[in-house]
Amino acid sequence: MCGIIGIAGTQPVTDRLVEGLKRLEYRGYDSAGIAVIEKLGQQTQLIRRRAKGKIVNLEKQIELEPADGMLGIAHTRWATHGAPNETNAHPHFAGRVGLVHNGIIENFTSLREDLKSSRTFVTETDTEVVAHLIDEAMKSGLSGKDAFAQSLKKLTGAFALGVIIDGVDGQLFAARRGSPLAIGLGENENYIGSDAIALASLSTRIIYLEEGDWAVITTDSVEIFDADDNPVKRDITIVTGSLAAAEKGNYRHFMLKEIYEQPESVSHTLTHYVDAFNHKIKTTKQLKLSGLDFKDIERVSLVACGTAAYAAYVAKYWFEQIANLPVDVDIASEFRYRKPALIKNSITMVVSQSGETADTLAALRYAQQKGLQTAALVNVMNSTMGREADFALPINAGPEIGVASTKAFTSQLTALLSLAICAGVERGHINAAQERGLIEALTQMPRLIAETLTLDSEIETLAHDLSKAKNAFYLGRGLHFPLALEGALKLKEISYVHAEGYAAGELKHGPIALIEEGTPVIVIAPTDELFEKTVSNMQEVSTRGAKILLITDKEGALKTKGMADATLICPEVSVETAPIVYAVTIQLLAYHAAVHLGTDVDQPRNLAKSVTVE
Ligand code: M6R
Repeated sequence: MCGIIGIAGTQPVTDRLVEGLKRLEYRGYDSAGIAVIEKLGQQTQLIRRRAKGKIVNLEKQIELEPADGMLGIAHTRWATHGAPNETNAHPHFAGRVGLVHNGIIENFTSLREDLKSSRTFVTETDTEVVAHLIDEAMKSGLSGKDAFAQSLKKLTGAFALGVIIDGVDGQLFAARRGSPLAIGLGENENYIGSDAIALASLSTRIIYLEEGDWAVITTDSVEIFDADDNPVKRDITIVTGSLAAAEKGNYRHFMLKEIYEQPESVSHTLTHYVDAFNHKIKTTKQLKLSGLDFKDIERVSLVACGTAAYAAYVAKYWFEQIANLPVDVDIASEFRYRKPALIKNSITMVVSQSGETADTLAALRYAQQKGLQTAALVNVMNSTMGREADFALPINAGPEIGVASTKAFTSQLTALLSLAICAGVERGHINAAQERGLIEALTQMPRLIAETLTLDSEIETLAHDLSKAKNAFYLGRGLHFPLALEGALKLKEISYVHAEGYAAGELKHGPIALIEEGTPVIVIAPTDELFEKTVSNMQEVSTRGAKILLITDKEGALKTKGMADATLICPEVSVETAPIVYAVTIQLLAYHAAVHLGTDVDQPRNLAKSVTVE
């Protein structure tokens, strides 16, 4: 998704803007640009440099034609309206106004129509009209600040904006409605950024603008106003650690680093949910979820997108088996439009790494409007979902930079299993011994994930074969059916090899027609009660020429000797926690296939880390 950074500085800003853009690369983008107010003696002028493609192209532009000033804005664009080319790249200019935007201006066509007799539009974007609105308002005699405030009132949609104006020296304008925006506080300088990661090398003192807020930022002041233009004070959050987490270290890609961080990230998740000393799950009270009583809840509605939705599908099995609590899982983009039957004694829980995904956020707001209790299971606690839900539940995975979700997935699973156990205990569906057994299994996770990581080089070899395929299938049953879906998603999104995940028993109802000599089929089957059935399905495709990679445990490998083309042996793990451990294998498989194919692993084509448009 688009990224914004801006600096009201006392030193030249261009290098730091570009560095900030690099920190935003993980969000996904297809063009980039900067704009500054340049001083030439007593004169000032608004200038910009923009380039299609990677930031390195922008750097080349700046090298050819240097541009610098003490006040500047910068942007990485993920195209929505208009092709990803230099003309459509931000910042957009209109008269004295330079502007960057994240999100969508929904009424841009009618605004353009209103202005078209007096203004020339040069881009296909929804953004350009906002710069014209502000410039037009100043022409009518308003100050930069009043012109900005007045223009905001005319916009509908979800957006974050950063604006500089030639002749309004030293002021940086910012607004947040629907898309996140943070202000960083510095020494004699202040900043804006799409998130704290963008500001990591500049500031640790962060103000997260609230919905509808707008601000005027100078080198030594930050004035914030709410949607009704009342001056407001917002809390300062001290953000630590994000700088280090945003570095690759010795790893070739963020994705690999994040896969390897999982023993640690999962243990951070556990620290929040498990009382390891007493071998107990933390109660809703200990989790500070006062008002949430699993005993009274008749149904849980889990809503999410992509990988987070697959974590939710796994959780359905857990909540129903461990807590006897019925669960619906909805893909967020479908939830509100299918007008779900609402159950009063239910909780709607959104699951999201970023906490900003537009569809998931809309689902959360929909549930709130309908008067339902809501919870947000998020990695970024300061995110919009984290702040707007009745209960915010952390996954504590640490910043995830690679577009492909990995450690967030295993932490989502860990948190969801913990919550299912908590519900099981509070609803009296499991006894103390069962609870202890599950806690024991959970606390072994970090060690078992570390053991699974030792399969890396074996998986790398297997991935070479997979990378040569045109199509691949992932099969699983029970808890491992959603994992099959996640395995296929991981492979598709970073290696661009077409893959589909299926419930192993479903293949013969149609998709088996696609199996031909050499089609890779990855079968995820630890030895649980469904093992034999999955093996039968494996044989059905094997006899039709499929090339089988079986991911199982020692016992499973013994029982299937000679049946699979390759077998990957995972550590022994409890039935309930197996998906968390097995997830590591499918992540590494996708990663190595992508590396072998030479794709852009951390920023795959067409994808964004945080999808803030519907
Ligand atoms: O930030 P979120 O968890 O809400 O993001 C949801 C999906 O966009 C995300 O999981 C996406 O599917 C990833 N690229 C998967 O690796």
